[in-house]
Amino acid sequence: MKRMLVTGASGFLGSRIVDFFQEKYEIYAPRHQEMEITDEEKVMQVLEKYKPDIVIHCAAISDVGQCEKEPEKSWKINVDGSINIARAAGKIQAKCILCSSDQVYFGSSVKEAHKEEETLQPCNVYGQEKLRAEQECLKVNPDCVLLRLSWMYDTKTMCDGEHGDFIKTLFLNIRNAEPLSYPVHDRRGITDVNEVLQNLEKTFEIPGGVYNFGSPNDLDTYTTVGEAFKNAGLDAKNLQKNELAFQSNPRNLSMCQEKAFNCGIVFSSTVSGVSENLKGLLNDEGCCLPASSAGEGTDDKR
Ligand SMILES: NC(=O)c1ccc[n+]([C@@H]2O[C@H](COP(=O)([O-])OP(=O)(O)OC[C@H]3O[C@@H](n4cnc5c(N)ncnc54)[C@H](OP(=O)(O)O)[C@@H]3O)[C@@H](O)[C@H]2O)c1
Repeated sequence: MKRMLVTGASGFLGSRIVDFFQEKYEIYAPRHQEMEITDEEKVMQVLEKYKPDIVIHCAAISDVGQCEKEPEKSWKINVDGSINIARAAGKIQAKCILCSSDQVYFGSSVKEAHKEEETLQPCNVYGQEKLRAEQECLKVNPDCVLLRLSWMYDTKTMCDGEHGDFIKTLFLNIRNAEPLSYPVHDRRGITDVNEVLQNLEKTFEIPGGVYNFGSPNDLDTYTTVGEAFKNAGLDAKNLQKNELAFQSNPRNLSMCQEKAFNCGIVFSSTVSGVSENLKGLLNDEGCCLPASSAGEGTDDKR
């Protein structure tokens, strides 16, 4: 059995990676207290001791708002911490997969789906940190793979306080027949985390570099949800346009998947993923969602 080390395994993505691969890999998932990623020596020590074949780095400050509020702290974790992981993985010749984000494209004036090689100047701290981490990690370990993930959701195991609230909000709203509004000046991929998990193993074999890694989407978020409603046979009368969000600075985080596709990595479109999950939730008798309202549909931490 190959050995895999996962950082950030108490988080949204890391916990699912551990569950997904536990039958196939021998997994070591050090908790935050066991391996503080900003401690370069500690990181090297842990990786040398465990000697993984693959390192998947999910530990981060993933909340965009927190990065704005605490730029120094988040820079240390999101940039310096990632460099420590990439460098240590390189030293023990483990394949290193790191999580970046579609937020590196925030602020770009490109109207089409973004390609990896664009010159970027992200307009938020989180995006700046993710971009710098990509650049620095590739310097210290050119074989590492940096995945630009989009906003993810999970209908299978949604827990309170997790990042999967996009579809949870949608579903609860439908069930409670409450109004929901989504921005028309925002275009982005939104991805079922289970598709990320299914595609992840392919990244262990691909050349080092940056890859867009998530569901493509050509539509604004309001239209995306409208299409999903239609596909799921739902009445969209409670669906409203949010014209204010991103009005002065329209956002396009939509990513071109060609580079990943050429490596055999395939994601369904955002509309198709959301539609299928919505249909599944509506049909699922044993759905574990609470009956209370989940709040605003436009509340987007990312
Ligand atoms: N979720 C999304 O929709 C999304 C979208 C795009 C990109 N991403 C990226 O994907 C990765 C995983 O995201 P996620 O949503 O799973 O994040 P998350 O749920 O916020 O989990 C973050 C994890 O990092 C750990 N951590 C934080 N600071 C640490 C430190 N200094 N040393 C060691 N561990 C530390 C946390 O442990 P404690 O809680 O114990 O501190 C937690 O396990 C991140 O790089 C994120 O930026 C996520």
